[in-house]
Formats: sequence, C-alpha cells, structure tokens
Amino acid sequence: MTTCASPQCGKETESALKCPVCLKGGIQSAFCNQLCFRAGWPMHKAVHAAEDGKVFDPFPNFNYTGKLRAAYPLSPKRAVPQHIKRPDYAQNGRPVSEIRNDRLGKITTLSEAEIKKIRKVGLILRKILDKVALHIAPGVTTDELDAVLHKECMAHNAYPSPLNYYNFPKSVCTSVNEVICHGVPDNTPLQDGDILNLDVTIYLLGFHSDLNETYYVGEKARANPDTVRLVETTREALDLAISMVKPGLVFRELGNAIEAYATKNECSVVRSYCGHGINSLFHCQPNIPHYAKNKAVGVAKPGMVFTIEPMLCLGTHKDVTWPDNWTLATQDGQYLAQFEHMLLVTETGCEVLTARLPDSPGGAVPRI
Ligand code: MF3
Ligand code: CO
Ligand code: CO
Repeated sequence: MTTCASPQCGKETESALKCPVCLKGGIQSAFCNQLCFRAGWPMHKAVHAAEDGKVFDPFPNFNYTGKLRAAYPLSPKRAVPQHIKRPDYAQNGRPVSEIRNDRLGKITTLSEAEIKKIRKVGLILRKILDKVALHIAPGVTTDELDAVLHKECMAHNAYPSPLNYYNFPKSVCTSVNEVICHGVPDNTPLQDGDILNLDVTIYLLGFHSDLNETYYVGEKARANPDTVRLVETTREALDLAISMVKPGLVFRELGNAIEAYATKNECSVVRSYCGHGINSLFHCQPNIPHYAKNKAVGVAKPGMVFTIEPMLCLGTHKDVTWPDNWTLATQDGQYLAQFEHMLLVTETGCEVLTARLPDSPGGAVPRI
C-alpha cells in the first residue's frame, strides 16, 4: 500500500500503475488509475524536477494576478507517528463527521470538562504559532516554516489539522501578499516587504484549535504606509468584533461592524470565506461572515466556541483560485491581510482561547 502519487487524490492504493520516471530512480510511486494519473501528472512531475535540484512554476500558463508564483516541487508529505491521534479525514481526505454534522445545522455548546480541554489546546496552539513566527525572515521559504510547524506539533503530540483535510498537502497554510488564504507551503523564499499570514490549526485531546496572524517580513513592509494601514486595520477589525461577543449577540451583527470599520479605513472585505464553529470538528456551525448585511443564523450562548477571521483587502475583495485548487488570490493582485482568533462565549462576554502572550512575536505597529 502506498498513497496515490496524485496530490489531489491522497487515497491509499495497491495499483500497479507506477510512474516510469520514478521507477528508473528506484522509487515506487503508484497512481490509483488513469484518471488520477492524468489529473496528478502536472504536479507529480514536480518530484522529478526535484532530483535535478531545480525549483519551477508548475502552472506556467496560468494568469497569475500578482507577482507571486508557485515554487515547486512540494516537499514529500510529512509523516505523523502512529501514537498521535488523528481526525477522521487524515486517512482519505474526507471529514466524514463534519459532513454528517452539517446536515443537522445545530450549534454545539461545550461542557465544563470539554472547555478545560479546548482551553488547554488553544494555549498550546498559541505557543506553536509563536515558535514558527520567530523563523519568519527574508530568504526563509514557506516550506521551511511548514517543517518547523510540523516538528512543533509532533513535540506536543498534536496532529496538524490542515494535513490531508480535503487532501490539503501540508501542515499549515502560508499566505503571502495577494494570497487571501489556503496558501500551500512551497519553495517560495520570503522577501523584505512581503506580508505573510500563518494559519495554524491543531487537533489534540479530541479538539481542533484554529489561529492566524499576519506578519511583516523585513523592514520594508513596516515602512509602507498602505501595507501598515491594511494589516493594522485588519488586526483592529478583529479586536472590535471580539469586543461585541457576549451571550445574546446576533452573529450577523459582526459583519456589519467589521465592514463599517474596513470601509472607514479604505479596505474591502472578503466574502468567500467566513469564521466558523470549532470543537471536535474543524469547521461547523455557526457560520460567521465578515461582511455587512449578511444572513448568518444564530445567537451567541455560553459554552459556544467559534472563530472570527476577517480578511481585508487594499483593492478588490474578489478572488481567483490557483490551479493547485487551494491557493486563493485577489483578482487585482493587491495585498490583503487576515487575523483569526478562537473564542469561547462566557456568561458575561468571551474568552480569547488563542490570545497573545506577553512575549508573542509580531503585534501592532503604529501607522505611518
Ligand atoms: N485554518 C483555516 C481556517 O481558518 C482552514 C484551513 S483548511 C486547509 O478555517 F485545508 F487549508 F488547511
Ligand atoms: Co478558521
Ligand atoms: Co485558521
């Protein structure tokens, strides 16, 4: 049994359809069938290019919207030792329990015992993000950050939730500049002047915890007034939304406040991805849109846990998906920023389960 060599598939296979180029090199890579072979070949051949040490763009004919390019080959799938408890999709990519739960449409509230656990997981997640963020610097590749994240997760016996979620190939999402979200770690070296979002999620003690921050790379990024206005407005928009969370809050109100604040600072709000409930499932009810006049259902009650994760843009909020079927970029190639926290509704307000620690890297900088 091996994992199908098509990065989009990810299923286990005993197929005899081996890659001839790999075979020559003494490696056994198998595709489930012809369909997987055809769909997976453009990305699979990236592995061959790796052998001559060259980094290349697997989508040379794609109309990229900004300066960023995919930089393949992807590194091989990182292993998770057997003793680490995995979510249901770790094997074949389908989050079956999540899909089943979506049909019920109910918002879960956690018991005291469950809250104790998810609080612990949230704190560990914060420490993991902080460790990875220390490595951000010009010249470092997003795959190197993935390696650091993966190792940190293993050290805490945590499963990196993105790994194989709907076949996502890596352990963390790294979104640079015009990438809105779900950027796939690859050989792209960060550059002075970039902004980078690290979106980390772990599964531990039976609970997922989710957190992201946008960081300035090098000194040039902090010296650009538009970049700073974008990043700081997004950070503040999340803080503003968090200050509204208490029992009785109507979820659809959050988007009204976030968009009003974004507009005041000449930013637009992404509509295609939303905050979400999170517990033993990665994504569940409630759905939390960040834009105004949304039709989100539900009211906050003590014991609910969900994320708010606004994505704000300097230009258009409209998106394009790269041919990797994951990376989402702005249509005009302008920068965007995102921040995410995981919140527990309490009797009087909310607790930020992923709150920054006194020594967390990154953090607000003054506008220029
Ligand atoms: N962490 C993201 C979120 O905030 C989801 C990433 S899904 C993945 O909801 F598959 F890309 F990892
Ligand atoms: Co999230
Ligand atoms: Co996230």
